[in-house]
Amino acid sequence: MGMSYILEVENLTKVFNVGKDADLYAVNNVSFSLGKGETLGLVGESGSGKTTVGRCVLRLIEPTTGKVVLNGVDVTSLSDKDLRKLRSEMQLVFQDPFGSLNPRLTVDEVINEPLFLHGEEKQTRRIRVEEMRELVGLEKDVHNYYPADLTASEQQRVGIARALATKPSFVVLDEPTSMLDPSARLELIDVLRDIQTELGTSFIFISHDLTSVARISHRVAIMYLGHIIEVAPTDTLLSTQRHPYSKALLSAVLFPDPAKKLDPFVIEGEIPTAINPEPGCPLSGRCPYHKEVCDKVTPELLAVKENHLSRCVHWDQLS
Ligand SMILES: Nc1ncnc2c1ncn2[C@@H]1O[C@H](COP(=O)(O)OP(=O)(O)O)[C@@H](O)[C@H]1O
Ligand code: SF4
Ligand SMILES: [Mg+2]
Repeated sequence: MGMSYILEVENLTKVFNVGKDADLYAVNNVSFSLGKGETLGLVGESGSGKTTVGRCVLRLIEPTTGKVVLNGVDVTSLSDKDLRKLRSEMQLVFQDPFGSLNPRLTVDEVINEPLFLHGEEKQTRRIRVEEMRELVGLEKDVHNYYPADLTASEQQRVGIARALATKPSFVVLDEPTSMLDPSARLELIDVLRDIQTELGTSFIFISHDLTSVARISHRVAIMYLGHIIEVAPTDTLLSTQRHPYSKALLSAVLFPDPAKKLDPFVIEGEIPTAINPEPGCPLSGRCPYHKEVCDKVTPELLAVKENHLSRCVHWDQLS
């Protein structure tokens, strides 16, 4: 039996016009699927297009081309009215917890708001708010605190409780732990995992911190210059990279066994501009495995193994 997907993203592209004859391809032909109760980690350096993917999928910004299908509904073609109805099904958790909370609302009022907008009865809302507060591990006595009275970790828990209050099918978490210290970071990830087990929610977990991503994600997609260049189950990707960029990214964070004296694999040079991209592989100017063919066509995301996709034509030459 195959996996059933709740979300399918097909050939998503987002172009920002940033000047005369200057088209910035923030997201370039991105496709992926998300299963029920699954977490897909979206990793990449700053500017690689992660946030833009998240916002296009939620239609907080309009994709230039491509399709997003949620539970069989084509989100990309919905009217504003129908999109508003679908909001309770797909939510966003922001990077900056404090900035994303209304400072004049108490904890319970923040969590209540999406339920109110969704038209839930008062009694249902009261019960759900309490349930969500407990689920994210907030103490009962913070219920009437204002965001400014909370720690960053508590603020982010409120943001998560708000996002999950309407029991959405999926949530985009955009760098949700980046403002937290390392121990609060791990705690929050465990909270998210518990919530997922309890509610069966699917997550897109965006981060440039591979340690956090590896801890929560079932699969990981790596982005470079607007493209997804490799996707695989987390364990597979940690042990076997099939794209030179992934190999470099992981070699920088995985602690090599000192006994083995592994040299870190480095890709030299700067990330090029995403404005008016040339045809060919996005890594071609920097890639140590580069051959002439790499400049001719943009490689497709190809299955190198079941569940393991790479956008490198020479994937089999990586050791
Ligand atoms: N509204 C916008 N207008 C112009 N360029 C944008 C806009 N939003 C994002 N970008 C550009 O798109 C690229 C991807 O940005 P982003 O999705 O924020 O990356 P990430 O989240 O991976 O850091 C960057 O080059 C960024 O400067
Ligand atoms: S397709 Fe060519 S340039 Fe691109 S990553 Fe593979 S070997 Fe390098
Ligand atoms: Mg971002």
